[in-house]
Amino acid sequence: MREAGRVVGEVLQMLAEVAKPGVKEKDLDEIVQKEYSRRKVTPTFLGYGYPAYPATVCVSVNDKIVHGIPGDYVFQEGDIVSIDLGATYKGFVGDSAITVAVGQITPEAQKLIDVTRESLYRGIAAAKPGVRIGAISWAVQSYVESEGYSVVREYVGHGVGREMHEDPQVPNFGSPDQGVVLRPGMVIAIEPMVNIGDWRTKRDKDKWTVRTADGSLSAHFEHTIAITDDEAEILTLP
Ligand code: MF3
Ligand code: CO
Repeated sequence: MREAGRVVGEVLQMLAEVAKPGVKEKDLDEIVQKEYSRRKVTPTFLGYGYPAYPATVCVSVNDKIVHGIPGDYVFQEGDIVSIDLGATYKGFVGDSAITVAVGQITPEAQKLIDVTRESLYRGIAAAKPGVRIGAISWAVQSYVESEGYSVVREYVGHGVGREMHEDPQVPNFGSPDQGVVLRPGMVIAIEPMVNIGDWRTKRDKDKWTVRTADGSLSAHFEHTIAITDDEAEILTLP
């Protein structure tokens, strides 16, 4: 799982550096295809679900929250781009996401990105053996709402292993008395999706792309982590 995670971290970092004005969403998918065949890993997202997800990576610009299908849109100065990537290596999955700025962005958009990243790290800090999943949920939600933003409810983090989505669910909202108790050896993905406006979502006709219902900006950060005897270990770092 460490090796799957490291590949995701490395390739995601490459994509983050490539996301500049003038680059097309689909260019990111091409880079993933090339890197994955070179590294002999499988794109976990391709063919996933129903209707089968048609790409190797999710690219969600501005009011898109998650599961954007990379298309012909060309990134423009001022966009924020959420990039979500999974890899399968020797039967095990890694899953991670990042939101990046395209050129100069507004201070408001930068703050959204900063708060969302920080909420992920607060969730990771809360992930210790003996506490419940809800400790993570509460760490994320209480921080995000204290900054005046909202956490998406309909999409949540998850266990990770041989499948991308395993039990337990890891909501980004809730209280510390909820959910199963964390134990060393468990691997989960924590993935706060944070909106400037309301938490409600809507889905495009493509059945995948998820947007904010009110059109406000949204950011998304995700790491796959392993619960250890003390601090959680982040598996999806470069
Ligand atoms: N990383 C996402 C998740 O955690 C993405 C899955 S997208 C799909 O749920 F394309 F694979 F479906
Ligand atoms: Co995930």
